[in-house]
Amino acid sequence: MSSPKSTLFSPYTLRGVRFPNRVVISPMQMYLARDGVANDWHFQHLAKYAVARAGCVFTEVLCVEPRGRNTHWDLGIWNDEQVPPLVRIREFVESCGAVPAAQIGHCGGKASRQRPFDGHGPLGEADAARGEPPWTPVGPIAEPSAPGYHMPDALTTAEIAAIVDAFADGTRRVARAGYRFLEVHAAHGYLVHSFYSPISNRRRDGYGGDRRGRMRLALEIAEAVRGQWSDELPLSFRLSCVDALDGGWTMDDTIALARELEHRGVDAIDCSSRGVRGATALANLEATRRPARAGYQVPYAEELRRETGIPTMAVGLILTPRQAEGILARGEADLVLLAREALYDPHWVLHAARELEHDPEWDLWPPSWGWWLAQRERTGVEVDPDH
Ligand SMILES: Cc1cc2nc3c(=O)[nH]c(=O)nc-3n(C[C@H](O)[C@H](O)[C@H](O)COP(=O)(O)O)c2cc1C
Repeated sequence: MSSPKSTLFSPYTLRGVRFPNRVVISPMQMYLARDGVANDWHFQHLAKYAVARAGCVFTEVLCVEPRGRNTHWDLGIWNDEQVPPLVRIREFVESCGAVPAAQIGHCGGKASRQRPFDGHGPLGEADAARGEPPWTPVGPIAEPSAPGYHMPDALTTAEIAAIVDAFADGTRRVARAGYRFLEVHAAHGYLVHSFYSPISNRRRDGYGGDRRGRMRLALEIAEAVRGQWSDELPLSFRLSCVDALDGGWTMDDTIALARELEHRGVDAIDCSSRGVRGATALANLEATRRPARAGYQVPYAEELRRETGIPTMAVGLILTPRQAEGILARGEADLVLLAREALYDPHWVLHAARELEHDPEWDLWPPSWGWWLAQRERTGVEVDPDH
């Protein structure tokens, strides 16, 4: 294998963990779990990216309590039965040389919904009749998280403390499962974001009010999680860097929050955006009725990295190897994350290595595949333009 000419294929280290390259598979909910337990579908979904040489592979969000699930079909990390299938995934991902990573979170007021492909609305009577009853979600205040959504219960301070404990318990289980990188999902209008955004948090107690009060839940979770996570292992937070709504959370706020998170042992910020007042962060984007720009969230990762020196992870319509290479080579982020483009092309990383001339001999491919592809290339292929 040639020495890395590209930044994309240069290794990267956070704490005691070495990423073989800078491509990370972003967390992607499959909505196919029963009782929060991963199955063969989750295994193959993540295993194939590790085979295809992603530097790091994230699980979908693992919900820290049943009430914090988006849907009945989410993965969970609230009991010990949920750990063994996550161990199986971790072992395989690690055997391919990728960093096994887990995301934990709580969907807050966006819980109790139909799956995206079942309508994505709040669960109702018809859902209950087919075995998917709604439950009451929780949030900072008693106000639906998006039009038409369930009225959540406003959390008491004692209930907030219990949720912080649930994040700590979830972290302990992820650690026991052997994962090497942990991310807290604090974006997309879910519980933690709904506390720091002034749009969704109008509490008057110590968890609301000014920015310090609104950030308190995120910071308490960071401390609780860091307390259960090895000093050798990195921790990231996924933030919605901007609400992109009048009176919402801004980049200045993100810079302030990231600095506080860093003081509490958070090593990197995964720079996403949006999600309050919409079904999903992506729906917020669609609602602007403008085509989304490739790399639309990269400027958040760039500004945060430049202003704070904190390592950043860029995500959102990162499509081509050259685009990803440019983001890294210009120092706009330390890692790039792919979601939908990886669904489209699960071998994205292997293809990128060919395109960037990092793998001229097909060495990155599993030998059972690469040997044949190298042979086909040596033979050459004559293409008949009419067929
Ligand atoms: C099927 C699917 C499931 C997703 N599930 C999660 C999730 O569990 N946690 C999360 O933080 N983001 C989730 N996202 C958002 C992605 O991680 C990513 O931030 C977003 O899709 C933008 O990147 P892309 O343009 O490469 O798709 C999901 C996206 C998709 C397409």
